[in-house]
Amino acid sequence: MAETLVLYYSATNTTKKIAEQVAQKLNADIVEIHPAQPYTAADLNWHDESSRTTVEQHEHNSRVDIKDDLPDITNYDNIVIGHPIWWAIPPRMISTVIDHLDLNGKNLALFATSSGTNYKRSQSYVERTIDENGYDTKVNQGAILNNPRQIDGWIDSLNFK
Ligand SMILES: Cc1cc2nc3c(=O)[nH]c(=O)nc-3n(C[C@H](O)[C@H](O)[C@H](O)COP(=O)(O)O)c2cc1C
Repeated sequence: MAETLVLYYSATNTTKKIAEQVAQKLNADIVEIHPAQPYTAADLNWHDESSRTTVEQHEHNSRVDIKDDLPDITNYDNIVIGHPIWWAIPPRMISTVIDHLDLNGKNLALFATSSGTNYKRSQSYVERTIDENGYDTKVNQGAILNNPRQIDGWIDSLNFK
């Protein structure tokens, strides 16, 4: 049977709750990703133009170090990555995660939670990061998932093994 892994980052637990439901519905393993340097409440203040997240998200092609605890994904066919939307795109650490995982031959799908922004810019961003790494990866259409109905619809759309 195909094996699926859900990796997620969640600063304030919204994505965490959705990730747990996605993993349960996909019968997948689930692993939380952490930044090397945790984000404080002040770091997460998007009304402050000099806060850590505002600076990171506006720095083109920047990367944020992750804690060195990514799982071995060799035995998984399908990789799902969940994250919040920050300034219309994934947190920069999601690019670091993509850089570090060998996604060759995998089916990849990303989802996010947000307070209104759709997944369009995030999808382009993720596809560009996959291209930059030269991975041969099937990237499914990502989605914002805020409730069980959206989760079910998105899971039905996935082209997983
Ligand atoms: C730094 C920062 C930037 C954000 N930027 C956006 C945004 O551009 N669009 C949006 O709809 N929500 C934005 N949000 C709201 C989050 O995407 C939303 O609250 C999300 O569900 C948080 O997920 P989490 O609890 O898993 O961290 C932002 C939140 C933060 C902290």
